[in-house]
Amino acid sequence: MAINYKETIREVKKSLSRDLSKVKTADDLEQINIKYLGRQGEVNLLFKTLPIKDDSNIGKAINELKDYCKQEITSRLNILLEIKSDPIFDVTVPGIQPPKGSLHLITHAINEIESIFSQLGFVRRRYPEVETDWYYAEGLNIPKGHPARDDQETFYLSKEIVLTAHTSNGQLREMEKVKNPPIKMVNIGKTYRRQADTSHSAMFHQFEGLLIDKNINITHLIGVMDYFAKAYFGNDREIRLRPHHFQFTEPSFEIDISCGLCHGKGIIEKLPCKFCKSGWLELGGSGMVHPNVLKNGGIDPKIFSGFAFGWGVERVLMMKSGLNLPDLRLLYTDDLRFLKQF
Ligand code: DAH
Repeated sequence: MAINYKETIREVKKSLSRDLSKVKTADDLEQINIKYLGRQGEVNLLFKTLPIKDDSNIGKAINELKDYCKQEITSRLNILLEIKSDPIFDVTVPGIQPPKGSLHLITHAINEIESIFSQLGFVRRRYPEVETDWYYAEGLNIPKGHPARDDQETFYLSKEIVLTAHTSNGQLREMEKVKNPPIKMVNIGKTYRRQADTSHSAMFHQFEGLLIDKNINITHLIGVMDYFAKAYFGNDREIRLRPHHFQFTEPSFEIDISCGLCHGKGIIEKLPCKFCKSGWLELGGSGMVHPNVLKNGGIDPKIFSGFAFGWGVERVLMMKSGLNLPDLRLLYTDDLRFLKQF
């Protein structure tokens, strides 16, 4: 009876694919290899049915079937090997490129501030953000019920524990830690206040400097402030001191920096400077450490004196970069469309 080769070849392929779908182990696959490609296998048996002198294309078709079977079996074998081998140890697989991140612009500013003060010998500190009332206020010469507390509404976690509204708590902590001056530190950290609008966020950053030694006076304070202003904002910038009041310093000042646009004149081409109005921009507070605060930190005010300052990181960053954010709180979102710009 004549063999319908076309039909038979189709049947063999179907049966192979059925068999392959059931394969679980390499042994199963070996059986299939023998069944189809072995000496007594389906393909060879088909070859044997061919007349000795075959001038049709059937031989070619059976050869193609042989190749087909080899391919199918090999690709099933590859899948088996892939499952078996642990991808962790496959050193030939190209690695996955993780997306590259970058430092946040506030982190950049903090690093720069830290590095400028370290040039003057100040060490970077981080003191608690969750603080007791003593370090946060009372020990800084701000007694309970004093109106100065109203300037900085903060978050009380209990009667005695607050989320600190300034980094000045670091002053007492540093005095206790170092004990014997000289003390030269800059405490950079997060601060919290009950505020939230487009130019204020409930969480922001401050840096607090403290220098205590023998014979420290206001000229040292001016020298350090001037150094920072020039290093951070540029050599052409000047500072000035404006008398102010803080409980923990006496005398106290606000430090201003000359405007980078009108260079302290307040006027550009006969018109008031739009950036500063007066020629000066406010940087932040400073002053000579109050004797009571020195005492509270265990330091004798008759022997030692010092100065302190506390400024906002976001504030100096905005002033330097000229960034004019519609909402300051954008800085703290994880919106990559915003962050990728820096
Ligand atoms: N702690 C003050 C505030 O957050 C800033 C400040 C003013 C810090 C004067 C100081 C200082 O160290 O001497 O408003």
